[in-house]
Amino acid sequence: MPRMMPVEPFDLVVFGATGDLSQRKLIPALFHRDDQGQIPPEARIIGTSRRDMTDEAFRAFAQGAIEKFVEAEFRTAANVKRFLDRLTYVSAEATQEDGWLKLEKVLAAAGERVRIFYLAVGPELFGPICERLGSHNLVTPHSRVVVEKPLGKDGASAQAVNDAIGKVFPEPSIYRIDHYLGKETVQNLMALRFANALFEPLWKDEYIDHVQITVAETLGVEGRAGYYDTSGAMRDMVQNHILQLLCLVAMEPPSSMEADAVRDEKLKVLKSLKPMSAQDLEDKVVRGQYRAGASSTGAVGGYLEELGNPDSKTETFVAIKAQINSWRWANVPFYLRTGKRLSQRVSEIMVQFREVPLNIFKKTADDLQPNRLIIRLQPDEGIKLWLCVKEPGPGGLRFKYVPLDMNFAEAFTTRQPEAYERLLMDVVRGNQTLFMRRDEVAAAWRYIDPILDKWKEGSDSPKPYQSGTWGPSSAIALIERDGRTWYEAPGT
Ligand code: BG6
Repeated sequence: MPRMMPVEPFDLVVFGATGDLSQRKLIPALFHRDDQGQIPPEARIIGTSRRDMTDEAFRAFAQGAIEKFVEAEFRTAANVKRFLDRLTYVSAEATQEDGWLKLEKVLAAAGERVRIFYLAVGPELFGPICERLGSHNLVTPHSRVVVEKPLGKDGASAQAVNDAIGKVFPEPSIYRIDHYLGKETVQNLMALRFANALFEPLWKDEYIDHVQITVAETLGVEGRAGYYDTSGAMRDMVQNHILQLLCLVAMEPPSSMEADAVRDEKLKVLKSLKPMSAQDLEDKVVRGQYRAGASSTGAVGGYLEELGNPDSKTETFVAIKAQINSWRWANVPFYLRTGKRLSQRVSEIMVQFREVPLNIFKKTADDLQPNRLIIRLQPDEGIKLWLCVKEPGPGGLRFKYVPLDMNFAEAFTTRQPEAYERLLMDVVRGNQTLFMRRDEVAAAWRYIDPILDKWKEGSDSPKPYQSGTWGPSSAIALIERDGRTWYEAPGT
């Protein structure tokens, strides 16, 4: 039986309630938590956007979202109705006064309780919304604000966005979501490292050869080209998700799971990322852009055609060889890559251990393979540890490379909750452990900014790659130059 901690009654106000994030992620996540009995009956969910809409129309919208994004086996007429009955709607203009008095009245009706303002809107509206929340005295000691990336386009603009939010909300009330941190397997990475004594003594450059972090998608920009073209893979994926994964692999054991204990350690990693020299920017970073090709659904067009702009230099793929200036990781490169329209949808972390110091089996096996630990975030979440074992039978000592394989879906039959379910309930509980602190965001930008500056100043373009491949050939060269290869699970 899943163990669940009910939360106290709360009011959740979702700005941008009729948008994509709300439809795809927030409403389905809240529905699941409600279905599991985690949300108390008095809790209210208040949708807000500039659109004029009745409560009934908003409920119909939410019902559509549930039917589309919640698997049929989890919904019944009764549990859908119970959830929809919690929803109300207030139309309010982020940049004008319309609607705010109504919101004030609706919130006042419940008295003092945890109040969450979820800003599922573009970052240009974070400041104006926070300003109005302040001027209408909606921010109480138990209020929290939740924001999504992109938090700015670079370090300077992120600072401006954070300043605008910080004028109204103190840092401990600001929840910066990186949904990767809410993924079950990402949390499992912390469990693997810090709830088991086995790996920690080996978790350093004496025993680890290198680490790879891959977040590969088969989808293209899927109707989000307008946003994506101002962002690109570096801001969309690397500055946040990939660097957060790197932090969890590389951080020192925190003294506890208290939010600041964990975030202090992640911050140290971000601050220790070796800044790129001008030569490194040439040699250790690859950007690509997809062209027409094939995906699992058939032939697909290229990014420029989808965008309708033949001149865009926005990258849809990035590979980086990152290094960390610390004793633990001094000689261990971290190869990072992410891209759209790649050959396979897979997010995984691969830790490759060093080879044995001496192969005593040379006569029969001259190519012992190094141990590899694979933490597969999605799909088929699980952990594999690749080992050399003796092939059965006579004929000398020959080896087979086999995985100790832990597939979470097979090992645990309970449904794996979506990242947003966990994160939303953590906001209600006031647990900041899985959210990014302001200084972390700033440190991540300090690493990324010089790369973006170079791309902006230079005249070169992203390297083209055919859809359905693993990115541009220079990304393969990036790792092969070091005598290593990108990991692909044997048999895939
Ligand atoms: C989002 C990005 O943060 O993460 C998207 O904006 C990307 O471009 C998505 O597709 C990937 O998330 P997931 O959970 O599907 O791996």
